[in-house]
Amino acid sequence: MKVLVLNGPNLNRLGKRQPEIYGSTTLEDVEMFVAKRAEELGLDVECRQSNYEGQLVEWVHEAADQKWAVIINPGAYTHTSVALRDALVELQDNNGFVEVHISNVHAREEFRKHSYVSDIARGTIAGLGIQGYLLALEYFASQAS
Ligand code: DQA
Repeated sequence: MKVLVLNGPNLNRLGKRQPEIYGSTTLEDVEMFVAKRAEELGLDVECRQSNYEGQLVEWVHEAADQKWAVIINPGAYTHTSVALRDALVELQDNNGFVEVHISNVHAREEFRKHSYVSDIARGTIAGLGIQGYLLALEYFASQAS
């Protein structure tokens, strides 16, 4: 199974941006940990990041066409993007997607409590730091075997 790991806006700033909330690990490190865990689990993985909503939408279309599973941290688009939701709906026909948040969005500002994508995700992992991406990989590995 191929898994596409998508990170949305500002996640390229991991390690520099609000380290008290998001930690000191960089996106490069996260992608390295993801690649290592995927290899151990026998999953084919690819990581991409964009600050642009339309780019994320187009990558989700690609995943739908290729029948890839998706792990996505949509960043702030979680709370704003109907367009991203509409794209992600299509993944439900195949392997689906897991929504990941590094921080516990339910323990923060009120506006972070609403997600446009949670109800159509296989599941949501929030607040477990970068471990969330690795747990999502384990979920897809368990589905593949
Ligand atoms: C985030 C939480 C979002 O509310 C925020 O806008 C982000 C990161 C997280 O990983 O905790 O950019 O998705």
